Amino acid sequence: MQFNDFREFLGFLEEKNELKRVRRPVDRYLETALVTKKSIEERGPALLFENVKGYGIPVASGVYGTQRRVCLGLNTTPEAFVKDYVKRSERLKEFSPRIVSSGPCKENIIKGRKVDLNKFPITWHAERDRGWYIDATCCIVQHPETRTRNASVHRLFIHEKNQTGLWMSPFNLWHIIMRYWEQGEACPMAVAIGVDPYCMMAASTSMPLEEDEFSFAGAQRGKAIDMVKCETIDLDVPATAEIILEGEIPPHERKLEAPFVEFTGYYGDERLAPIFNVKAITHRDQPIYHDIITGPPPDENQPMLITNMAEVHKVVARVFPEESILDVYLTEGGCTYFNCVVRIKKRYPGQGKQVASAVLAYQGVKNVIVVDEDIDARNHVQVEWAFTTRCRGIKDTIVIPDSLGCPLDPTSTDGVVTKMGFDATKPVGMDKPMSQMVHNPCYFPTDTVRLSDYIDGWKGEGIYRGDKKERQRAKETVSV
Ligand SMILES: Cc1cc2nc3c(=O)[nH]c(=O)nc-3n(C[C@H](O)[C@H](O)[C@H](O)COP(=O)(O)O)c2cc1C
Repeated sequence: MQFNDFREFLGFLEEKNELKRVRRPVDRYLETALVTKKSIEERGPALLFENVKGYGIPVASGVYGTQRRVCLGLNTTPEAFVKDYVKRSERLKEFSPRIVSSGPCKENIIKGRKVDLNKFPITWHAERDRGWYIDATCCIVQHPETRTRNASVHRLFIHEKNQTGLWMSPFNLWHIIMRYWEQGEACPMAVAIGVDPYCMMAASTSMPLEEDEFSFAGAQRGKAIDMVKCETIDLDVPATAEIILEGEIPPHERKLEAPFVEFTGYYGDERLAPIFNVKAITHRDQPIYHDIITGPPPDENQPMLITNMAEVHKVVARVFPEESILDVYLTEGGCTYFNCVVRIKKRYPGQGKQVASAVLAYQGVKNVIVVDEDIDARNHVQVEWAFTTRCRGIKDTIVIPDSLGCPLDPTSTDGVVTKMGFDATKPVGMDKPMSQMVHNPCYFPTDTVRLSDYIDGWKGEGIYRGDKKERQRAKETVSV
């Protein structure tokens, strides 16, 4: 299925029972976020809050709350994701964006003094947040010399009706803004809210600066993205977006930003951050406002970071035969960002550490465990077993103190962290001398057995629900 816009994707999720409408009145102060967080924790549906107090505009939230939904948006599955992503990324040139003369995002155009962000049901997520934040953003800029487009997700703190704060780690947006500021110029930026899943995922991915992230979005969809020119700045935006903000980031102004509950699960520190002056807003008729909930895992930001698995795969593939990389997995407890498990077909001594050091070159990854092909990288019990029985502590550990990581990591100082790589592979040839036992693991062929053939009352799905009569007796027993 190829989605043309955000609302088409929401409709598809509703058909699949992956989205439910909330009709009762809800408050945009804490309530929409809390209800969404609960649904995400219970692996429940995305929500469309139709009746946000004081607003006629619905809020869609939790849309990317599970990796399953992210993958539905990209027409793949969590298991096939890395392979599909890498294969499609090789075809960027065929899917350059198509510039069209107009599109639904131009149905309403508001400029100058009439610009007022309060028109939209912008939410307040967590109690100690600094205030109202827009965070389901697709922030679009263009490199001043190459004109390559860049898209990224950044939360925008509402300072005034036409001004927001902007916080960024030193990724591509930061590098591009610096190019403008070094010339003393403001950087033009457009922010699309409520975009199709391909543009949203392109924005949450960091790609090489020379690659157009909207070509990437087109390649993931298998059809070029339609884009239209902005009204007040020289930028193109997705034609079917729900809402577009147009403006610029001036070089010298800074205002206080944060606390804001981050994807690491902690409130970020208050700090001075650049500002974004909004010059125009364009939006569709009856727009849908998109919101994304961040916080400790499970949250919504984290499933969207699944793209990092594919990017780490690409990094490893530069130093290790691609067909021998069997899986790259970022764990949920590691916020789908910091902790990586790589499953490899090891053939040569030393390859465990070689792969670990390549992965640690990826900025976000802080810890990596490399395992053999008999270990399921997504099964934490198996990974811990390999770590326990195949990793000889410090001998099989790489430590890189003072490396650039993520500034939002509470263990970091200004983004500088200690990185560690663990080689939990079995020895090959002369590397890693250890007991011969390691070559004799025992696996029971449990796949060949169906418990329901042996135990009356076994309902499958791995849950033994007990004897029917006993269950009834338990129901009738009054609990104290
Ligand atoms: C919901 C969400 C919110 C995010 N908020 C921020 C943010 O406020 N600041 C930031 O630096 N990165 C944020 N990120 C991460 C960046 O969007 C991500 O690193 C992106 O790949 C950067 O792209 P770029 O290298 O093209 O600039 C967020 C990601 C998601 C999914």
